[in-house]
Amino acid sequence: MAAARWVVAVMAMTMATMARAQLQYGFYNASCPGVEDVVRRELKAVFANDTTLRAGLLRLHFHDCFSDGPHYEVETGRRDGNVSIKVEALRDLPPADGNVTVLTNYFGVKNLTMKDMVVLSGAHTLGVAHCPSFSRRLYNFTGAGDQDPSLDPAYAKQLAAVCKPGNVASVEPMDPLTPVKFDNGYYKSVAGHRALLASDAALLDDSLTGAYVRLLTNDTNQDTFFADFAVSMINMGRVAALTGTAGEIRGTCGIFVD
Ligand SMILES: *[C@@H]1O[C@H](CO)[C@@H](O)[C@H](O)[C@H]1NC(C)=O
Ligand SMILES: *[C@@H]1O[C@H](CO)[C@@H](O)[C@H](O)[C@H]1NC(C)=O
Ligand SMILES: *[C@@H]1O[C@H](CO)[C@@H](O)[C@H](O)[C@H]1NC(C)=O
Ligand SMILES: *[C@@H]1O[C@H](CO)[C@@H](O)[C@H](O)[C@H]1NC(C)=O
Ligand SMILES: *[C@@H]1O[C@H](CO)[C@@H](O)[C@H](O)[C@H]1NC(C)=O
Ligand SMILES: *[C@@H]1O[C@H](CO)[C@@H](O)[C@H](O)[C@H]1NC(C)=O
Ligand SMILES: *[C@@H]1O[C@H](CO)[C@@H](O)[C@H](O)[C@H]1NC(C)=O
Repeated sequence: MAAARWVVAVMAMTMATMARAQLQYGFYNASCPGVEDVVRRELKAVFANDTTLRAGLLRLHFHDCFSDGPHYEVETGRRDGNVSIKVEALRDLPPADGNVTVLTNYFGVKNLTMKDMVVLSGAHTLGVAHCPSFSRRLYNFTGAGDQDPSLDPAYAKQLAAVCKPGNVASVEPMDPLTPVKFDNGYYKSVAGHRALLASDAALLDDSLTGAYVRLLTNDTNQDTFFADFAVSMINMGRVAALTGTAGEIRGTCGIFVD
C-alpha cells in the first residue's frame, strides 16, 4: 500500500516534470495564477499610451489589432537563453529583399513550411517599414537605375513621392490598403502588386504561395487566414524554444548578465 502510494507519487512528480518541460497553454496556471491577465492589462495600457501611435504615425488602435484580430491560445513556459548574440538576430531574420527561394530557406531552417511563411507574412497587414528597406525597388532595382517592374506604377509613384533617394526616416505601411486593420488586406495588396517589400511581392513568384495569396484575397476566406495564422504563430513560438531546465530565467528579460 505504502509502496503503491510512493509509485503514484513518483509518477505524479514525473508527469509534472514532463509537463513542465514543454511549452503549453496555461503554463503558469498553478505557479503564477492570473499572470496572463496582468500581462494583458499592462500591454493594453502601454499600447493606449504609446506616443508614436498617438502621433498618428501608425494610428494603430489596440482595438483593431486585438479585438478584431485572430485569437489563439499562446503557449507559455519559454525560458531565456543564457547568451544574446546580436549577429544571430540579423543572420536569422529573412531579408526584406529576399526572393521566394531565399525566404523558403530561412523559414525551412526554423522548421517552418512555405504555408507558415505565407501565413506569417500576413502579419504585415499591420506595421510599417522604413524607406531604405524598399527604396531599391523604386530607384535601382537591378543596379541599372531601374524600378521593380512588378510594382503597380501608381503605387510606385506614391512611394517615390515620400521615399526620396537618401531618405532613411520615412515609413510606409506594409499593407497600403487597410494599414491599421488586422484583416486579409495584406493579401489583396500583394495580389494587386502593391506590396511594399520585395519579400512580400516575392510570394507571387511561387505557384504554391501565390495560390494561397490569391485564395486569401477573397473576403469569405478571412476566417481561414485567422485559423491558419493561429496555427503558424504557435508553430513559430515552438522554434528553438528553451524549456525545462535549459537556458535561464533572467531577472530583467532584456539584459544578459554574464
Ligand atoms: C490552464 O487553464 C486553462 C483554462 O482553464 C486550460 O485550458 C489549460 O489547459 C490549463 N493549462 C495547464 C497547463 O494547466
Ligand atoms: C505612459 O507615458 C508616460 C509618458 O511617456 C510614462 O511616464 C508612463 O510610464 C507611460 N505608462 C505606461 C503604462 O506605459
Ligand atoms: C534568389 O536569390 C538568390 C540570392 O540572391 C540567388 O542566388 C537566386 O538565383 C535567386 N533565385 C531566383 C529564382 O531569382
Ligand atoms: C545602383 O546599383 C549599382 C549596383 O549595385 C551601384 O553601382 C550604383 O551606385 C547604384 N546607384 C545608385 C544611384 O545608388
Ligand atoms: C469567393 O469565395 C466564394 C465562396 O467560396 C465564391 O463563391 C466566390 O466566387 C469567390 N470570389 C471570388 C472573387 O473568387
Ligand atoms: C527542427 O526539427 C528537427 C527535427 O525534429 C529538430 O532536431 C530541430 O532542432 C528543429 N529546429 C528548430 C530550429 O526548432
Ligand atoms: C547555457 O550555459 C551552459 C553552461 O555554460 C551551456 O552548456 C549551455 O549550452 C548554454 N546554453 C543554453 C541554451 O542552455
